[in-house]
Amino acid sequence: MLLDRAALVAATEPFGRSRMLPPAAYTSAEVFAWEQRQLFAGSWTCVGRESELRAGDLTQRAVSCGDVGVLLTFDSPGEVRAYANTCAHRNHELLPVGDGTSHRSITCPYHAWTYGLDGALHQAPGFRANADFDPAAHGLVPLPVERWGGWVFVHAGGSHAPEPFFDHLGAMAGIVDPYAPEQLVVRATQTYEVAANWKVITENYHECYHCPLIHPELCHVSPPTSGQNYDLPGRWVGGSMDLRPEAVTMSLDGSSHGVPLPGVDQRRVEYLGLLPNLLVSAHPDYVMTHRLTPLAPDRTQIECSWLFPDTDPPVDPSYAVEFWDLTNRQDWAACESVQRGLASPHARAGPLAPNEDAVYRFVSMIASAYLAP
Ligand SMILES: [Fe+2]
Repeated sequence: MLLDRAALVAATEPFGRSRMLPPAAYTSAEVFAWEQRQLFAGSWTCVGRESELRAGDLTQRAVSCGDVGVLLTFDSPGEVRAYANTCAHRNHELLPVGDGTSHRSITCPYHAWTYGLDGALHQAPGFRANADFDPAAHGLVPLPVERWGGWVFVHAGGSHAPEPFFDHLGAMAGIVDPYAPEQLVVRATQTYEVAANWKVITENYHECYHCPLIHPELCHVSPPTSGQNYDLPGRWVGGSMDLRPEAVTMSLDGSSHGVPLPGVDQRRVEYLGLLPNLLVSAHPDYVMTHRLTPLAPDRTQIECSWLFPDTDPPVDPSYAVEFWDLTNRQDWAACESVQRGLASPHARAGPLAPNEDAVYRFVSMIASAYLAP
């Protein structure tokens, strides 16, 4: 690792004595490249909602996991497969990132090598006369893929073998599953591009120490010192916060225009971050997610989605969108300021406040990943 070892060890000291990551962790192109391969490609990255990825009955969709291109295929309902988005002939991309098609076969646009949705090579023009050519040796490279809660997760390969997805998810499943996110539908999406490192955005999400200064609307419906953070198995961090007695959800006036989700605590909001890139905010009447895609050391794309029960007529999500879009923009302004400060030659790895224990858990996990052989 390119970062100073003593600084990383300092980030893993017990809470109360530890420091944040060294500033170079947020600004270095080399660190960013390492993270793309090891923390994003080499872990269970969330690539989106299955309903959106296969929208319109698509059979194929190209996405990226860190710096690795992935081709998802949807053969039959309820089945998702993932392959490296790389032709076995000359490694041309099979489909541009973000694109989808509803073709029943996968044809490389370079030399027309054609594969089935199961990754098997069906046609390689000109090779029929070659008796030594074995199509079975030239299929697409399969990648581990899992579905949970309506989201799709891909492990696109790093230097370590994949940890089983449900070990990675750990006890977060027990907190999120009562919200039955797989039954919810996306009623609003907002995409932001923020001039800050993805870790700055994640760290900001996991503490409300900043709330009294920059989020008056949030503090109006939820006491910033309320709630507890979790310390449970899995590659996630987070905690809950309470609603004020007069508020039924997070909205500008504390009222809901939706319906209560059955079987969940109506007095609290869960704020959970599954590494590397999915933040889940579970409310009494809706679930909001932030899905982070790092673009550069100092740039991150954030797709914010609001999920509601599939009612007829549909819930108008504007009460939730209005509240969180305002709060998001307050956060992005703070994160961009932190990023500018981190680029200063005078930036230091600062200490953590007593109510930044979830930030500590995140930072110490990242520092441990940097330190791992
Ligand atoms: Fe905030």
